Amino acid sequence: MAKIAVLAGDGIGPEIIAEGLKVLKAVAPQHGQDLEFTEALVGGAAYDATGHPLPPETLELVQNSDAIFFGAVGGPKYDVIPDPNMRPERGALLPLRKKLGLYANLRPCILYSALSSACPLRADLVEGGFDILVVRELTGGLYFGQPKSWEGDNAIDTCLYSREEITRILHVAFKAAQKRPNKRVVSVDKANVLETSRLWRDTATKVAAEYPDVELSHQLVDATAMDLVRRPQSFDVIVTENLFGDILSDEAAQLTGSLGMLPSASLGQGTFGLYEPSHGSAPDIAGTGKANPLATILSAALLLRYSLGAEAAALQIEKAVEIVLNAGHRTGDIAETPDTKIVTCTEMGDLVVA
Ligand code: NAI
Ligand code: MG
Repeated sequence: MAKIAVLAGDGIGPEIIAEGLKVLKAVAPQHGQDLEFTEALVGGAAYDATGHPLPPETLELVQNSDAIFFGAVGGPKYDVIPDPNMRPERGALLPLRKKLGLYANLRPCILYSALSSACPLRADLVEGGFDILVVRELTGGLYFGQPKSWEGDNAIDTCLYSREEITRILHVAFKAAQKRPNKRVVSVDKANVLETSRLWRDTATKVAAEYPDVELSHQLVDATAMDLVRRPQSFDVIVTENLFGDILSDEAAQLTGSLGMLPSASLGQGTFGLYEPSHGSAPDIAGTGKANPLATILSAALLLRYSLGAEAAALQIEKAVEIVLNAGHRTGDIAETPDTKIVTCTEMGDLVVA
């Protein structure tokens, strides 16, 4: 039996998590997956109830779980908590990632064929959609390297990577590529000017030797930024360091049309992972039934794929989402025209289950 910690959080968190759970409960048993769900408080909801956004009982639960299914945290009410370390994102999400050693962030950026008109790029560049997986190193590089300082008119950030840190993220990318039809990895760096990038490129080439079925190419980050808007269909898996991944994943995400469609997985050692939609708690639409639950439902598919090894179950969910979209069902954020008929968050979840 796999133990899933369910942390719904704030705003639309509980609404979208309810739909994700509905889908997991419908699909998992068909694939012999026995899941046990335990809910716990996180974020503003936890702060209100206990005075801390990541209470000890929640931390204990996640440390004894196989995966975390996470909604979203935060909202205007909590932005004004006097101690910034008690605010939902800084006090709950960042410590969770750190304590659990989640060093790999996976963001599938899929433009579904049925939604290709939502893509800001010229129609002929994205006809039929695309499917890019961005794998970003999450705990090293320029964001964390020491020394880091700002004194007077001089400031320093340090970009630091060890071969070990690079090796482990590359394994994540190659393993993910092996499960995909095209099996291609583009390793993105700036090896013409950065030493960390030269180490990165050397490591990527060495790790690639262990995956003869996957094709590796190297690309400079500026060229990748251009190619994402020039020929997005040419990409399969992109793997890169923290800063480049932060920027490229947001760029790729914008090409898919709506935040409400983007799932994510954060992985650490072994099969443990945290699965959440890429968007936030959307306080502006909380409680209205307008939230798009598909990013969360697709995050449930990633949970099955990466933490439970249930590839067929993951594919079944992804296929169901595609069928629902092809049939023309839309939440407001992905509606093509003002007179598109809109379904609610709950209805969308029901459609995917059906
Ligand atoms: P947001 O992602 O919550 O919302 C941005 C816009 O997208 C809003 O107009 C919202 O209505 C819309 N939107 C987001 N998800 C949607 C969905 N599933 N369906 C339909 N529309 C959707 O970002 P925002 O407004 O900047 O932040 C709101 C709160 O969420 C803040 O407190 C922020 O700190 C927090 N946040 C939390 C994250 C997390 O828990 N991982 C990540 C990002 C923000
Ligand atoms: Mg970013």
